[in-house]
Amino acid sequence: MDTPGAVIQYVPRPGIVDLGWGHPLPALLPVEEWSAAGRTALREHGWQALTYGAAPGPRPLIEWLADHLGDGDHGSTRTSEIFVTNGASHGLALVADLLVDPGDVVLVDSPTYHLAFPTLRDRRAELVGVPTDGQGVHPARTAELLERLARDGRRVPMLYIVPTFANPTGRCLPHERRVELVGLARRAGLTIVEDDTYRELAYDGPAPPSLWSLAERGTVVRLGTFAKTVAPGLRLGWINADDGFVRRLTGLGYIHSGGGVNHTTALTMATFGTSGAYRRHVAAVRGHYAAQRDALLAGLRTSAPDLRISVPGGGWFLWAELPPPVTARSLAPVAEAHGVAYVEGRRFFADGAGGGGAVRLSFSMLPPGELQEAAARLGAAVDSARAR
Ligand SMILES: Cc1ncc(COP(=O)(O)O)c(C=O)c1O
Repeated sequence: MDTPGAVIQYVPRPGIVDLGWGHPLPALLPVEEWSAAGRTALREHGWQALTYGAAPGPRPLIEWLADHLGDGDHGSTRTSEIFVTNGASHGLALVADLLVDPGDVVLVDSPTYHLAFPTLRDRRAELVGVPTDGQGVHPARTAELLERLARDGRRVPMLYIVPTFANPTGRCLPHERRVELVGLARRAGLTIVEDDTYRELAYDGPAPPSLWSLAERGTVVRLGTFAKTVAPGLRLGWINADDGFVRRLTGLGYIHSGGGVNHTTALTMATFGTSGAYRRHVAAVRGHYAAQRDALLAGLRTSAPDLRISVPGGGWFLWAELPPPVTARSLAPVAEAHGVAYVEGRRFFADGAGGGGAVRLSFSMLPPGELQEAAARLGAAVDSARAR
């Protein structure tokens, strides 16, 4: 028997219903469908499926992606604007490698995906949160921030943001702000790195147009991944960027040496896509994750009515503001004693200064019954923390 953590990242904790992990519900991972696609891809491509792959990724996947990306978004993406990666995290690391020099300022949304921070700090960037309000990044105040940084002689090559069904808030940046932000980036010579990880997990209607689709080429680099729609273990995703940027990616030394990344899996994904299995699978998981979202929301409304909760139209997360004076930190041991866990809000702020009164709750990994139990435990923990 393997010890916990020896095969997979997730380690369960006995007695704890854990709302901390942004992982898929295990039962929704497409074990049978994926193995069928793997067999078909090997039959179809033979030895070519197992040798070194083409630098930007195998043509069948790139063609399917170019076709498919237009469905869930506005505008189109050409095949020359796609580079296959090991997932969104890898995409971010590659883009940061090309754009960021040590000592640069990288702007990040506040709050935003906390695990982007170490990747950007690997480049020895200084992370600065953009000004935000309840609707997300504030373009006019961000313009002022950029002017201040320029006056101080700082180089600011990129801004990282998850504008659609964000991690951690579940929110979407409003349309006008999307337009203003890409306009600002173009004028300032700033590259927006749009992490579009959750676009296809839209529950209440289509996702808003991506920044990529709204911007002139050269302003936005978009990161995509199959981690949430198919399976994280594939370690497969893509970058959308203008042709010149894609050429820089294909010219990287380790691509020259080892060929396109994750070639065999990428070809299997092409089969999974073109066969229709992807479309069927995403439609099915969307239904399940929407039901999980609704179960957690319903549970919290009943058991924790004093939390202020965002209602996300997609993605995997709820952002909950705690009733003062309860803070995420003071609640943590109480929640633990009640058998429930979450991620503290401050972890999603680059300077760790915001989010003290908020928590991120993930509904992706647990079935509806357990989510309702988690909500009951969290509600009891909040009551008990307030009474102290
Ligand atoms: C916003 C965001 N970006 C990237 C990732 C990681 O994606 P990948 O597994 O493709 O590296 C996650 C996963 O939680 C995420 O929430």
